[in-house]
Amino acid sequence: MKRTEPGTDSAGTAGFRDFLAGRTTDRVFRHPTRHPARPTGFCPCDGALPKALWFYGKAAVMLTVLKLPFNAPKLALLRGFGAKVGRHVFISADVWIDPVFPQLLTIEDDVMVGVGAKIALHEFGPDYFSAGRVILRRGVVIGGFALIGHGVEIGEGAVVAGGAAVGRDVPPGTMAVGNPARILPRIP
Ligand SMILES: CC(C)(COP(=O)(O)OP(=O)(O)OC[C@H]1O[C@@H](n2cnc3c(N)ncnc32)[C@H](O)[C@@H]1OP(=O)(O)O)[C@@H](O)C(=O)NCCC(=O)NCCS
Repeated sequence: MKRTEPGTDSAGTAGFRDFLAGRTTDRVFRHPTRHPARPTGFCPCDGALPKALWFYGKAAVMLTVLKLPFNAPKLALLRGFGAKVGRHVFISADVWIDPVFPQLLTIEDDVMVGVGAKIALHEFGPDYFSAGRVILRRGVVIGGFALIGHGVEIGEGAVVAGGAAVGRDVPPGTMAVGNPARILPRIP
């Protein structure tokens, strides 16, 4: 009997399409796969050549524009690629936003993302694929060179310290510092 490689099954990728399209209420999608050094079916780069080229072109444009100091083109591009971006958002130079599934990012109004910060929206492990919505609530400040993991919500008015690595939700009005981040009350 022909063995189906875990993660290359159509049920997994169909479930992921539902997740991406917002047809489930889950914040994180996770599915077993074979080792990601070989195609798993979850990356747009695994598709037919035209689809893969479109994906690589889009990713190259997005990563290039995010490196620049100009804010407005970044916001326009993120919105064009499916991210939800509010008003009065500032994205500093050299920020890295996962170009694979930008539609999983929500940035509410009055958010500042510091220089060199990184926002991941998916992850391949040795035997699983996972992707998750990242939500930066109103008034959030992300410090320079911080790393925000996929599936994380940063609560309203919270601050992520420079260089912090955040893998869990940050409650509203608090401060996340260090790697792995610990949560501290924020003294206004
Ligand atoms: C998070 C931040 C705002 C904290 O400022 P603060 O309220 O004055 O906090 P404090 O300096 O009193 O520090 C509070 C605690 O957090 C720790 N802490 C603060 N910043 C930290 C950092 N970046 N990494 C690790 N720990 C940090 C302090 O050591 C202290 O720990 P303790 O209570 O165990 O002694 C500031 O440190 C920071 O990182 N700002 C980001 C600046 C930035 O990157 N801007 C983007 C570029 S424009």
